[in-house]
Amino acid sequence: MWVSWREATRRALYEDGGFYREERPSAHFRTSVHASPLFAEAIARLLARVDVALGHPPRLDFVDMGAGDGLLAAGVLAAFGGTRLRVVAVDLAPRPDGLPSAIEWAEEPPEEITGLIVANEWLDNVPLDVVEQADDGPRLVLVDPETGAETLGPPLTDPADLAWLAAWWPLPRTGSRAEIGRPRDEAWSQLLVRLTRGTCVAIDYAHTAADRPELGTLTGYRNGHAVAPVPDGTRDITAHVALDACARGEGLLTTQREALRDLGVTGARPPLGLASSDPRGYLRALARASAEAELIDPGGLGGFGWLQQVR
Ligand SMILES: C[S@@+](CC[C@H](N)C(=O)[O-])C[C@H]1O[C@@H](n2cnc3c(N)ncnc32)[C@H](O)[C@@H]1O
Repeated sequence: MWVSWREATRRALYEDGGFYREERPSAHFRTSVHASPLFAEAIARLLARVDVALGHPPRLDFVDMGAGDGLLAAGVLAAFGGTRLRVVAVDLAPRPDGLPSAIEWAEEPPEEITGLIVANEWLDNVPLDVVEQADDGPRLVLVDPETGAETLGPPLTDPADLAWLAAWWPLPRTGSRAEIGRPRDEAWSQLLVRLTRGTCVAIDYAHTAADRPELGTLTGYRNGHAVAPVPDGTRDITAHVALDACARGEGLLTTQREALRDLGVTGARPPLGLASSDPRGYLRALARASAEAELIDPGGLGGFGWLQQVR
């Protein structure tokens, strides 16, 4: 009955009947994509920058990695348009109804990508192992998938895991926990090798060496609420991403606030004078400012990490 967190999460999310085989993320939680269409518009502006940097290639790719319901892919297609653009939404879940036919739906990213890849809240769903520091060193935490009860398992012996812990998440004292992000690092580098030229962006709940949480971040989500992380297939199981480990010292690691502000999402309110000269326009601009403010709120979506790597 006891299994590692990595195996329990893999089964709970991705096996037949698993959470992501059956459910669309938007029914359970709200990402930046669902918060506002302004997010997709900002990503389309980033795509335009990448297009310029690549010298307007004959085919420009936009790949939405871990696309969920494909809303980001659809938003970027609508905002960017044109005949050179190939939009591919990648997810293990089946193609959602109603997605524009111009969007390709695939279980794997294309082999060769020239353009922009965006993985919004994908890496936090890549299953990982949890370890706890015992008196004799780090031990694997095992979980009962039906109840979520935990027990300490065998000592961690995999040299690659031990090296990852030592480099990225040393455990300071007995009882401290870490989430071994090695499967995320590997998932990220396997995505990057498919980028022939362009930019690859991971956007996620993140921490870095300076602020690792002492007891880890495993959480469940169901019907819009954070719930206990029981890996029974009825809920999302997520853990924040050690984005600095994915980056390995390369690329640009910032917050969503900084990245979106650079793309023109400022949350600036319209001038008060507009309220009398154009009351409707003022209200529209006010609504836009408030949607922008949510996307860059440092205590919310704006605090997400953005890792951008360029080839
Ligand atoms: C939290 S959802 C994010 C959805 C969407 N990007 C958004 O922002 O609304 C994570 C998605 O990643 C997908 N996913 C996880 N691992 C995957 C993999 N190896 N290949 C493709 N999709 C994957 C899941 O099926 C799920 O739809």
